[in-house]
Formats: sequence, structure tokens, C-alpha cells
Amino acid sequence: MVPLLSAYVIASMDTTINAIGNTALLFARHPQAYQEVRAEPALIGPAFDQSLRLEPPAPGFFRRTTQPVDIDSITIPADTKVLLSFVSANRDERKWERPEEFLVRRNPVDHVALGYGVHGCAGQGLARLEAHAVLGALVRRVSSIELAGRAGPQAQQRHPGHGFAARHGTHRKAVSEMSRIVVDFDRCEGHGLCEQTAPEVFRLDDEGELRLTHEEVAPEDERAVAAAVRVCPVAALKVRP
Ligand code: HEM
Repeated sequence: MVPLLSAYVIASMDTTINAIGNTALLFARHPQAYQEVRAEPALIGPAFDQSLRLEPPAPGFFRRTTQPVDIDSITIPADTKVLLSFVSANRDERKWERPEEFLVRRNPVDHVALGYGVHGCAGQGLARLEAHAVLGALVRRVSSIELAGRAGPQAQQRHPGHGFAARHGTHRKAVSEMSRIVVDFDRCEGHGLCEQTAPEVFRLDDEGELRLTHEEVAPEDERAVAAAVRVCPVAALKVRP
């Protein structure tokens, strides 16, 4: 009983808190959208789903294959750890028109931020209820929201996955060409996925600023750096020969 209840507490706490927080942040970044929702509270549900689609609190989960699996002409061998990247699927431009945009009138109920199939989120009804209660109170009582400092959805969440969506071109970059890492600091938003993917090379300092432990790509880091380049959600990383 205790493990079951612990599983529920872990699955239900930060996910819901982050989802509601991310929605408030998106409202702050999109004042026009916030005013639309205030004028038409029926849009709270679609806005919340839109926030889940763009910034899923659980960006992905791992699975292990029990047999070889063919996906999109790639064969994943048996007994391989695979990342199901919800954040990537939710921004896949083959599925979503203008995938990066927070459009409160789009009702993206078929995003995968709550999982899918037999392991779909068991608490999604409760999560939606909580979100409706909090966001409903917000739109009733707060006329506008302004950011008071630096912030980013999922800023604390470090998880590979952002940016995998159908960016096939970068996937094909030859690892042997790589030698030097270039960071576009104007683009970097401190998501930290590079640190998560290649911790030997990338590090976020206490201020959330990206630091490189070294700029040349050591042979043992090539794969991890290539992966970090791919997962960066704002394309702030490059590797130059
Ligand atoms: C916005 C809030 C939430 C998000 C984004 C979320 C997300 C998810 C996701 C992505 C999964 C699928 C995991 C997988 O594929 O293995 C999942 C499963 C699950 N969630 Fe949630 N969740 C939320 C809220 C909650 C709440 C409030 C509860 C409990 C009251 C809960 C309980 C569970 C449980 C028990 C599972 C496992 C289902 C299974 O494997 O059969 N979740 N959740």
C-alpha cells in the first residue's frame, strides 16, 4: 500500500504544480491570450491543454524494447533503452501547425503530455480539476500578469527531449566533423537539456548561465555533445570543424 501511495504522491505533486505555474507564465508572456481567457473562461481548459502541449511537466519517459522495433525506417534493437519524448511529439510540425505558438483557441486534446494508452496518466481528471480551480480563480481576480524577473517554463526541469521534433537534418550531422563547440548566448534560455545530455561538457551555474568545461570536443564526448546540440530547444549550440 505504501509504495502505491508514494507512486501517486510523486506522480501528482510537481507535475500539477509545474503545469499550473507554466500556464501562468505563458499567460504572462502572452497578455493578449490572457485577456481572451479572462473574457471567455471556457477557454481555461484549452489554454491549460495548450500549456501542457508546449511545456509538458513530464517531458518524457524511458522504455526498454523487448524485441526489435522498426520506426520510421530505423530498427531499434531488442533490450534498448528508448526515450519517449513527449515534449518533442507535442511540438512535431508534422502534427501541429505553428507548433511553437501558444494559441488558446486551439484545443490540443490529443497531445501526449499525460502519456498515452494503458499507462496514460491515471490522475489526469484530478489534475484538470485542480488546474481549472486555480486558473479560474486567477482569471477572475487578476487583471494582468507581468514578469518580475528572468524565467522560463521548465527552467528547473532538466530532461533531454526538447527539439527532437522532426529536425532530421541535425540528426544526420557526421560526428567525425566535430571539433569545437559554439554557444549562441543570445539564444540560450538555460533549459539545461545540454547539461543533462552531456554533463561532462555543459554546466549551468547558480545563475542559470551556461558554462562549458572545455570548448574542444574530446573524442569520448563526441556523441554526447552531438546529442546536446540536437536537444537544445532554442538551437543555441553548434559544433564547428
Ligand atoms: C498536469 C499534471 C500531470 C501530468 C503532466 C502527468 C503526466 C503523466 C504522464 C506523462 C504519465 C505517463 C507515464 C508513462 O508513460 O509511463 C502519467 C502517469 C501516471 N500519473 Fe500522471 N500526471 C499529472 C498528474 C497526476 C495526478 C494528479 C495523479 C494522481 C492523483 C497522477 C497519477 C499518475 C499515475 C498513477 C500514473 C501511472 C499510470 C500507469 O502507469 O498506469 N498524475 N502521468
